Amino acid sequence: MSDTARSHGRKSIHASLKPRDLMSEDSDLVGVWKAQVITLLPEAFPGLLGQSLTGRALKDGLWQLEPIDLRRFGEGRHRNVDDTPAGGGAGMVLRADIMAAAIEDARARIARQAPLIYLSPRGRRFDQNMAKALAAGPGATLICGRFEGLDQRVIDAYDILEVSLGDFVLTGGEIAAQALIDASVRLIPRVLGNQASVEEESFSHGLLEHPQYTKPAVWNGRAIPEVLLSGHHAKITDWQRDQAERLTKTRRPDLWRAYLIEQGRDPDEDREL
Ligand SMILES: C[S@@+](CC[C@H](N)C(=O)[O-])C[C@H]1O[C@@H](n2cnc3c(N)ncnc32)[C@H](O)[C@@H]1O
Repeated sequence: MSDTARSHGRKSIHASLKPRDLMSEDSDLVGVWKAQVITLLPEAFPGLLGQSLTGRALKDGLWQLEPIDLRRFGEGRHRNVDDTPAGGGAGMVLRADIMAAAIEDARARIARQAPLIYLSPRGRRFDQNMAKALAAGPGATLICGRFEGLDQRVIDAYDILEVSLGDFVLTGGEIAAQALIDASVRLIPRVLGNQASVEEESFSHGLLEHPQYTKPAVWNGRAIPEVLLSGHHAKITDWQRDQAERLTKTRRPDLWRAYLIEQGRDPDEDREL
């Protein structure tokens, strides 16, 4: 995954198109960041991704989305995609052969370097660094599990990267896929109107973000901290950094430690804030 700027495609997109019109195998935008989502619920896309800034960017062709209906690859009259777990137990498991057919189909339409990811509670925890790496690449093929999950053999055969949204269990991978896509797409140049907001927000410097305030200056007897109204930019920056450090230290000791190490400071001889 490289940091180089990418062209934003050859095909022109008209603002009148609805996000769903842009989600087809035929409307491939060469060189444009692409999310493929293999799912039993293709109608769940674009969902929230079709709204607000990500929706606008989708319409403008700054990224593209291709939901792939796993059911298309199912077997028999009922297009079965799952079967009972080997060894017994509750629920159903998505079949390796069916998923492999969907993967082969999907991978023919995406750059080879795009990672193949299975959203899974057993996976590596998704974070801002992963979002940055994904945004800098050509896109990703995402697999959404359902029921008890996916047959292990297909995960092994395709060396699929398992990625988790957090230590909880969702009903399916679709919400996790949308969260991963949202966090990645907003880092693609020009998707957010104001790129500075990405540079200042939580995790971008290894710290949680400082508190934010807006008008009115006093609300219910609570005033905005005076320094923020002083117009003194150096003092404001110092205050914001101090607040970010305090918040990170108290709320996220894990991030705080990593931040100190990154700064070449000894986390075991931490100064009092
Ligand atoms: C009910 S879950 C299966 C849970 C699985 N039996 C287990 O215990 O690990 C169904 C699907 O939801 C998705 N999923 C659930 N929790 C997730 C999480 N924390 N992060 C990402 N995907 C998740 C996965 O795609 C998973 O295959």
